[in-house]
Amino acid sequence: MCGIISYCGNRQAIPILIDGLKRLEYRGYDSAGLSTVDKNKMVTIKTVGKVSQLENKTAGTRINSSFGIAHTRWATHGKPSETNAHPQTDCHNKISIVHNGIIENYLELKEELQNKGHQFKSQTDTEVIAHLIEDNYENDLEVAIIKSVERLVGTFGIAVIHTDYKHQIFIVKRGSPIIIGIGDNEFFAASDSNALAPYTHKMVYLSDDEIAVLNSNRFYIKNMKNEILEKKIEILDEDEYKMDKKGYEHYMLKEIFEQPESIKNAFRGRIILNEGVSKLGGLEPVLGRLKNIKKLIIVSCGTSYHAGLLGRYIFETLTELDIEIELASEFRYRRLKLNEDVAVLAISQSGETADTLAAIKEAKRKGALLLGIVNAVGTSIAQITDAGVYNHAGPEIGVASTKIYTSQLVIITLIALFIGRYQTVSFIEGSELLTALKKLPDQIKDILKNAKQIEKIALRYAHFKNFLYIGRLYNYPTAMEGALKLKEISYAHAEGYPAGEMKHGPISLIDENFPTIAIVPKDSTYDKMINNIQEIRARSGRILSITNDGEDKIKNISDDLILVPQTLSILQPILNIIPLQLFAYYIAKEKGCDVDKPRNLAKSVTVE
Ligand code: G6P
Repeated sequence: MCGIISYCGNRQAIPILIDGLKRLEYRGYDSAGLSTVDKNKMVTIKTVGKVSQLENKTAGTRINSSFGIAHTRWATHGKPSETNAHPQTDCHNKISIVHNGIIENYLELKEELQNKGHQFKSQTDTEVIAHLIEDNYENDLEVAIIKSVERLVGTFGIAVIHTDYKHQIFIVKRGSPIIIGIGDNEFFAASDSNALAPYTHKMVYLSDDEIAVLNSNRFYIKNMKNEILEKKIEILDEDEYKMDKKGYEHYMLKEIFEQPESIKNAFRGRIILNEGVSKLGGLEPVLGRLKNIKKLIIVSCGTSYHAGLLGRYIFETLTELDIEIELASEFRYRRLKLNEDVAVLAISQSGETADTLAAIKEAKRKGALLLGIVNAVGTSIAQITDAGVYNHAGPEIGVASTKIYTSQLVIITLIALFIGRYQTVSFIEGSELLTALKKLPDQIKDILKNAKQIEKIALRYAHFKNFLYIGRLYNYPTAMEGALKLKEISYAHAEGYPAGEMKHGPISLIDENFPTIAIVPKDSTYDKMINNIQEIRARSGRILSITNDGEDKIKNISDDLILVPQTLSILQPILNIIPLQLFAYYIAKEKGCDVDKPRNLAKSVTVE
């Protein structure tokens, strides 16, 4: 989703801005632009499409400037066009602004400003901020910005420059992430630390309602009461943002193949085998409260929601807690009884998903204990939660989440065991679970060795337009996630269903052109899954089974079979999803889709 990069220093700004934008490309966007001041004039260059097109446009311009702001846009208000792309400027082209987030009261402000004579060029909500600052400006830009943001309702991370303020960039945050990067006599601001990786590892995370002013040789951060703040400088580990395809054709494929490692990273140092318990330093500070909670509500979106869906079964198996799972975007509409007996667990790869953030803010207001499972260190969700566990899975660049999903499942299991061991889970049960967990990386390696065979099978399915994915119990979320992977990147229609529900609707779709992917582990759901497959076959449906049973019973009723190693039922989904990720990948590749950047999707969804 929208990305911001700003630079203020002694080097030429444009190449740094372009490079930063390229590093933000993975988030998903439709247009891009930048502004800088050259010879006292605001210069703004914008384009629809790729950052490389913006780079071509800047190539012949001979701009000489060492500060500027840039943006990749994912359209919300107004279609993708040069006019609607950011930066947006005021009437006199003196103020230029880039913005992430949504201004909810922009229509009302726009009308007010139009009545005062301001001329608007775009359909964006962002342009209103440029005009508002212009309207509030007397002789101090900082004051004008603060006055303006006081009027804004919604979420924003903004960067502002003004032709009269050479070498100064003004940054404000409310709800959308902005990070300040500190170099040697140069400063950066970005919506995502990945954009700053080649330049600095020293970061300061802005909190809501803070303003940062960057100069080429100093910066300061204030709150809205004009008080200077001492903020902590975080040093980011290089591994947290390494972006490199390492010879793989796509990031997604690389990330699928990284799963043995990302799973190890999820449990490394977090297992005490001889006590059958997990050790989670991030939860220790709230241990007292955690031991007393009665109910856990999981909130998340997209793939993280599917991890949460499975989390419900995992927590139910390992703890005595009442468990609910809710889509973050729906959570706020519910009249839930939240109090100190309740913990709300947010699961988020990016740590910035606006819906998840809004959900936990709501839960905080009502007194629940906030927990988080987050991959991106220091992000908003990580900051706002009372305690949590990082995935340490490294950056995930492919928009379709793969390695973070399995990493989330491992961490959910560790948290459930952590709580469960204070309740009824025995030492033996705990150590059996942890022993099985430790075997997962090697078992995944075995699945990945069969990638070629999975590719061959996938190619036989690439021409189908519709797919049904079915599973039961722990593998109902696997079916949902498998279907999501396929639709996200190959644009085939795929529905994930609990297998028992199939006869209440989806079975009417089945014919020889509507294949079913059945997840059939050898567990308590096996016989019922076999019945479901028979029902599909009776309607000429084609079947691909994902199973750990190589026996004739399942072989004889499946058109294709992918075998995965066996583990405990509760962990089996972590293995079962791997062939489904590869299946989706190979189909999307065969169809010539942009696997890492599927149309209309964004990696980090910072609007509600
Ligand atoms: C977007 C991404 C998905 C992701 C979802 C939730 O839709 O495309 O891959 O699962 O957001 O993101 P989060 O960062 O909160 O896990």
